[in-house]
Formats: sequence, C-alpha cells, structure tokens
Amino acid sequence: MIVLGLETSCDETAAAVVDCDRRVLAQKLLSQYDEHRPYGGVVPEIAARAHLDHLDGLVAEALRVAGVRLTDLDAVAATGGPGLIGGVIVGVMTAKALALASGRPFVAVNHLEAHALTARLTDAVSFPYLLLLVSGGHCQFLEVRGVGAYRRLGTTIDDAAGECFDKTAKMMGLGHPGGPALERAAAEGDPDRFALPRPMRGRPGCDVSFSGLKTATRQVLDTLPPGPLSARDLADLAAGVQGAVADVLEERTGRAMTRMDQDGTAGSAPTLVVAGGVAANQTLRARLNALCAVRGWAFVAPPLGLCTDNAAMVAWAGLERLRLGLTDPLDFRPRPRWPL
Ligand code: KG4
Ligand code: ZN
Repeated sequence: MIVLGLETSCDETAAAVVDCDRRVLAQKLLSQYDEHRPYGGVVPEIAARAHLDHLDGLVAEALRVAGVRLTDLDAVAATGGPGLIGGVIVGVMTAKALALASGRPFVAVNHLEAHALTARLTDAVSFPYLLLLVSGGHCQFLEVRGVGAYRRLGTTIDDAAGECFDKTAKMMGLGHPGGPALERAAAEGDPDRFALPRPMRGRPGCDVSFSGLKTATRQVLDTLPPGPLSARDLADLAAGVQGAVADVLEERTGRAMTRMDQDGTAGSAPTLVVAGGVAANQTLRARLNALCAVRGWAFVAPPLGLCTDNAAMVAWAGLERLRLGLTDPLDFRPRPRWPL
C-alpha cells in the first residue's frame, strides 16, 4: 500500500509518500516562517495563499522523488482539520482532485490523530499507549486504544504548552516560532534564578494550565531594565520558563501513568509516546525519558522532523485508516474544529 499525504493546517505546506512497510518514500516541506515573521505569529490569510502557491509543486516533487505515478497510489490523504480553515480547504481540495483524477479513495485525516499515530510509523509502537500531545494549539493526555479510539485523560484549561513558549518568547524579544528560539536561548541559562509558578502541579487529575506562567513571565520582565534583555537575563528567563513547563508536564504525565496503571489500561508493555511540535524540546524529552525509566515504562519520541507538522504523519494516518476501510466521500467538509 502506498499513500500520498498533504498537510496544510497551519504554517507548513507539505506533501509526503509512505508505504505499509513504514517507509517514507518522499517528504517535501516548506515552512512559511519568513512570510509570517514580520507579524510575530501565523496570519491565516497569508498562510492560505502560501499553501495555494506551493502545494502543487511539492506534490509533484514528492511523487517524483518517491518514483510513483498517481495511479500507483492506493489513496490520497489530507489533513481535514482541526486547523486554519483557509489552509485546510487548500489541502482538502487538492487531495480530492488528485483522488478523483486517479480514481483512488480520499482520506480526511484529523491532524491530532496524525500526530498521535506517528510513533507507529517511526517505531512500530503497538496499542495501547499513553500519548502526550504537545503542540502550538494542543496539550492533551490521551489513552490511545486504536485507530479512532481515544480516551482523553487531561487537557489544558487555557493555553497549550507551545503557545506558552511562543508567547513568552515573543515577550523576551525572540523571533517566531518561539519554541525553538526559546530552547536555544535557554541553553546556558540558570532555570532557578527567577521564581516562576508551576500551575496545576500537585492537583488531582491530568489537566494543565499555562496562562499563569505567561503572566508571571511578564511580571519578571517588568522588574528588569527596560529595552532588550541582557544575554544573561534572557538565558536565565528562557531556562526558567522551559524548566517550569517541563516540571508541570513531567508531574502531570506521572499522574496519567498512575491512572492507566491503576485502571489496567496501560497494557502488558506500558508505553509513553510524546508527539507534537513541543516534543522536539530536548529538556522535555530528557525529563520524560527519566520518568519512564523510574516507572518501568517504555518511552518513544519520534525524530524531531516528524514531531513538528509534516505530511508523512498525515500519509501514515491515512494509510492506517485505509487499512481499516475508513475512507471519506468527496463531499467531506473541512473541519476547522475537530476534537479527537
Ligand atoms: O505540532 P506543531 O508543528 O504545530 C501545531 O501546533 O500543530 O507545533 C508547533 C509548536 C509551536 O508552538 C512551536 O513553538 C513548538 O511547537 N516547538 C517547540 C520546539 N519546536 C517547536 N517548543 C519548544 N521547544 C522546541 N524545540
Ligand atoms: Zn501539529
């Protein structure tokens, strides 16, 4: 089985081809960082136009690199939501057109499910597993029982972790996207110099909250000299924010593990999978890895390039759905909101 996947739900335009032997035959991706940088965040209208400009070329390139023709495909998949509606429409319409032209089925993929299933492409992880999905728009703990079978154990009650990184990075004068810039800035910093809160830590349940951390960061900045931050202050504050987010996620993950251990849903080989753009953060990965070692759980984190938005994960989720006969009609309507 060979599936072409398209991703256009945010600021990455991407096309990829994967097969049922878990091989990524081609992966083409264009980030729109330069288009959005002047605005300090993703501008939906600019994103949609950029997807429109670039997607066709990326598809042609992906097919060429994979060495497959349209008729060699078994399905065409695209992110059908959740995401910015203009971009999702571009991806869905393109995939529908390709599916119609090739006579192959169309698969509408939930972007969150694509992140959730990536570890099965990269590491052949079997169900069930605990998923920590941490991206710019989402921060959730999910018990993954199978394709399309999820139980949410916890979520953010305000901002997502990536949003917290992006917003605090912007306050510190770091560029867009903030997460990677903040991680670089934090490299030499002292995470304990500024006292930042650990929202929700110690509370029952697995929900998280990050808006208080944003406010606390603003308050610390107000105590520092006005104007650009000194290299020392920047490094220490970035390390402080990163440390606080990692502390909270580590503690909440531990609770989600306990819950699955206790209700018997962790299975015989308890496994934690981390996914989403924030999973690229090395400090977070190290913390979760150590937590799993202590708790006797396996830890799986996809390679960095497959943690952030990409089309291989969409193609793979499309393939998993196709294997179960889960294809979609050509009148599928893009879903800007689409909870798992
Ligand atoms: O999954 P993703 O590519 O897009 C969606 O939100 O769906 O995640 C992007 C988010 C952004 O908030 C970005 O700042 C964050 O992931 N991110 C990181 C790192 N790389 C990306 N956050 C912390 N450390 C990183 N290295
Ligand atoms: Zn994403």
